[in-house]
Amino acid sequence: MDKLLIEGGVPLSGEVSISGAKNAALPLICAALLTDRPLTLSNVPHLNDVTTMLRLLVQMGVDVTLDERNSLVLNACGLNRPEAPYDMVKTMRASILTLGPLLARAGRARVSLPGGCAIGARPVDIHIRGLQAMGADICVEHGYILAQAQRLRGARIFCDLVTVTGTENLMMAAALADGTTVIENAAREPEVVDLANCLNAMGAKVSGAGGDIVTVEGVERLAGAEHRIMPDRIETGTFLVAAAVTGGRVRLNGTHCGILDAVVEKLREAGARIDCHRDSIEISADGPLSAVSLRTAPYPAFPTDMQAQFMALNCVARGTGVITETIFENRFMHAQELRRLGADIEISGNTTVVKGVPRLDGATVMATDLRASACLVVAGLVARGETLIDRIYHLDRGYEHIEEKLSQLGARIRRVH
Ligand code: EPZ
Repeated sequence: MDKLLIEGGVPLSGEVSISGAKNAALPLICAALLTDRPLTLSNVPHLNDVTTMLRLLVQMGVDVTLDERNSLVLNACGLNRPEAPYDMVKTMRASILTLGPLLARAGRARVSLPGGCAIGARPVDIHIRGLQAMGADICVEHGYILAQAQRLRGARIFCDLVTVTGTENLMMAAALADGTTVIENAAREPEVVDLANCLNAMGAKVSGAGGDIVTVEGVERLAGAEHRIMPDRIETGTFLVAAAVTGGRVRLNGTHCGILDAVVEKLREAGARIDCHRDSIEISADGPLSAVSLRTAPYPAFPTDMQAQFMALNCVARGTGVITETIFENRFMHAQELRRLGADIEISGNTTVVKGVPRLDGATVMATDLRASACLVVAGLVARGETLIDRIYHLDRGYEHIEEKLSQLGARIRRVH
């Protein structure tokens, strides 16, 4: 099992490119199921989760190739097995995003219920209730969602909770439904907007994406399209935090501030200097940062996927920061690992109080989930001495060649087998 070995204390400097967004790529790949024409996606990140999703679609009968510009060409004209088996879904919950498109295109689907995961129970009841509102017959048997529908019909759907993949699933299902669907209390994340833009390029009629009411006028069929995947705002945020805590000066290319304003504001509040450009971000920080308090919430508020990284920042900042996690019920597992590095963290329910300490000391720690892994990398970059991070397969799900990019910025980091 691979590990990452980091020698901390080096201020990051230089520039790196940000990859395409994992959480945009996954629904966009599923959108290919909606048509028998080719969908071409560029700026696809090379991530384990993307590979898993492509393998899932290939076993459904989808043709996946790379074109001469290294763009992904997906063609679901040969779709013949509208199923997402447990052994593939258990490694990646986002497989639930095949449910809506399969129902809309093939009229039936057999998708394994995603199990829970480290950060929470992660139910999909809102996905299911929304599809039932559109006329789908759905039952759950032996761990599988069995769904069928002659043709989905437009409906008015209210999401009890703001759900990103729930909004995306319902948007894709509605694209081919008979009539108009209104999704209320929709997720406003940029990845939802990226998907809506791609669906419209394919001939769908989606309006209001990015707001909390999304309207989809169903059409008979969708065409192919070419779509460039948006930059990954969580990779962007992770590198910004790494640059700030190490007191470095870094430029991130192929990304922009407008997709993570809440994170940029918090970093400025902590004392970092950030310059926003059309297609890049520059950040610099000298001297210790000030601790910040934050509360995670749906976009455009502070993203839960950046909570762990900011806990690492607060560990070595001046003062005390209070972090409240409102999205997932078990997303503080990185805290006990940070304590092994010398952090001063008190947990009380969904709130942690982090008191900055003068220094963290390297140790062996264990990654527990994707963003917790990123938090431990950030902490390792600033801890004195060596930090060895185990179970970094979590990291490889959502960060493309992270140790290569960090090495490019001067970090002393390497993968050990
Ligand atoms: C997406 O997960 C992201 N994944 C997550 O990123 C991200 O943390 C999350 O949104 C919140 O922003 C992808 O986009 C592939 P939700 P998702 O449905 O859609 C509850 C990462 O690190 N809920 O928005 O699964 C749920 O339990 C990952 O890249 C229901 O109760 O999250 C949670 O408390 C981690 N019933 C809240 O809503 C439902 O049917 C928000 O979850 C659906 C969700």
